[in-house]
Amino acid sequence: MLRVEDIFVSYGPIKALENININVNAGETVALIGANGAGKTTLLKAIMGIQKVSAGKIIFLGEEITNVGTDKIANRGLGLIPEGHLVFSTMTVLENLQLGSYNNPNCFNDNLESVFESFPILHKRINQIAGTLSGGEQQMLSIARSLMAKPKLIIVDEPSLGLAPKVIGEIFNILRGLNKKGYTILLAEQKAKKALEFVDRAYVMEIGKIVLHGPAQELISNPKVHNAYLGSKI
Ligand SMILES: Nc1ncnc2c1ncn2[C@@H]1O[C@H](COP(=O)(O)OP(=O)(O)OP(=O)(O)O)[C@@H](O)[C@H]1O
Ligand SMILES: [Mg+2]
Repeated sequence: MLRVEDIFVSYGPIKALENININVNAGETVALIGANGAGKTTLLKAIMGIQKVSAGKIIFLGEEITNVGTDKIANRGLGLIPEGHLVFSTMTVLENLQLGSYNNPNCFNDNLESVFESFPILHKRINQIAGTLSGGEQQMLSIARSLMAKPKLIIVDEPSLGLAPKVIGEIFNILRGLNKKGYTILLAEQKAKKALEFVDRAYVMEIGKIVLHGPAQELISNPKVHNAYLGSKI
């Protein structure tokens, strides 16, 4: 579904990504794991056309999307849920969801019904100002808003950021439910254990490079991953 081939990204003189290759098949859940500054967000931004790629190719559903504008990439079916559960904080839950469906207003009612099935709490809070939602609810709204555009692949950057362990569990359960409904998911996570318990496959990033990849179950029992990312928590 998505293929990233040998891409390079720089911030001025700083090389942020070097020779990155990843792929995501339809129906899969795939994680990028790695410490602070490894390049996870940069890679997701490069895929979405937010960050310029200096070499290499990105192919989505058989078509090249390298350095194509973000709006065009979104219209082809890629949806990014950015780091830090961003919502339009002075608008209501409903207005946030309306903004999410700007490219597809005719399907608004159908999409809304399906989003409320996955997020009943947002239905209850439909007229609440988004900035007054809890952190977990804001993360749900951020995911729900991206679903309003009916993406084929959802890209979630650090879904656990700033949330309590119980709420992180709820968010991962929701993502699992979305995957069962047919959504393909690519996520970036610093919380490697949580991510590896959730996904089918993962790529491990270190300072702008992929250093390991494989099925999540293999990575969980790999001593290198264990020592570097899972610590005593396994
Ligand atoms: N706009 C920018 N200008 C210059 N350097 C940047 C910029 N954005 C990111 N970087 C650098 O690129 C590297 C990768 O950053 P990135 O945000 O992709 O990491 P990350 O893996 O998402 O980290 P985190 O887990 O903390 O979110 C870091 O060294 C960072 O300082
Ligand atoms: Mg990041």
